[in-house]
Amino acid sequence: MPTLRNKHLMGLEHIDSDDIQLFIDTGFTFREVLDRPIKKVPSLTGKNIVNFFFENSTRTRISFELAEKRLSADVTNFSATLSSLNKGEGLKDTIQNIHAMKIDCIVMRHPSPGSCLQLSNYVDSIIINAGDGMHEHPTQALLDMMSLQEKFGRLKGVKIAILGDIIHSRVALSNIFGLNKMGAEVMLCGPPHLIPRNIEEMGVKINTDIDEVIEWADAINVLRIQRERMGLGIIPSIREYRNYFGITQERLANHKKEIVIMHPGPINRGVEIDSSIADGEQAIILDQVLNGVAVRMSILYLLLGTEEEMST
Ligand code: CP
Repeated sequence: MPTLRNKHLMGLEHIDSDDIQLFIDTGFTFREVLDRPIKKVPSLTGKNIVNFFFENSTRTRISFELAEKRLSADVTNFSATLSSLNKGEGLKDTIQNIHAMKIDCIVMRHPSPGSCLQLSNYVDSIIINAGDGMHEHPTQALLDMMSLQEKFGRLKGVKIAILGDIIHSRVALSNIFGLNKMGAEVMLCGPPHLIPRNIEEMGVKINTDIDEVIEWADAINVLRIQRERMGLGIIPSIREYRNYFGITQERLANHKKEIVIMHPGPINRGVEIDSSIADGEQAIILDQVLNGVAVRMSILYLLLGTEEEMST
């Protein structure tokens, strides 16, 4: 069985291209398992995994749970709202108590950047970052890259635009780390105040003219406009955003070119993307979701697996 250089998956900043490719290639193997009538292999029998979610999630939480069950792991879902955190217990005590119950792996989503790294000071379980604040979302970037490889047959040289609120986006940061390492070309687009200063030093291009970006790109990853930030005045008006940066039917029709449309979800239909585009032939949004299960199976298998066979 191939081995990874890292014990945990905290982010893509410190994962090298060989390990990223291994996650993706193993993900394609598990895609075949998902097409079988019985979508289950015994690879993680006897392993205990806790899904520790402190923030809302649909795709990441459910796809991790499905991936764990399809690998035959024992799964426990921790709900912060039903826990003794509400009685004032801190994160350290909560985690150490759960760890004392003999846990092999913790999958955590938390609003604080760096929370997964902090967790590794308290426990010796394998830790997978399911999104830590505005820092990283490595499993999303891996499923995005798997979906791009599926579409284009490669990542090297593919031109990917990331559109929207870059500065607050863990999806953008993990994609930039990953795509750069895999030799893709990355261009960022969005309102200038939502693009981090000096981010070109990470090896990405910037262009705030969405029509020029559409002409350049093979694929656009459209980020969600985080409505929870609207009250903070970060985006003054949804209508203005849509006019300048929205992926609308009319805008794409003007370009008359093939372009792949991605979105990590959840989608704000009619804001950052038109419904007809999100549901149209150019969009691979639901392929991303399916690949999310496969790549999370790959991540769990490669981090927790032993020499056992993947299939019966
Ligand atoms: N893409 C993503 O992380 O979605 P959820 O917040 O629903 O998990």
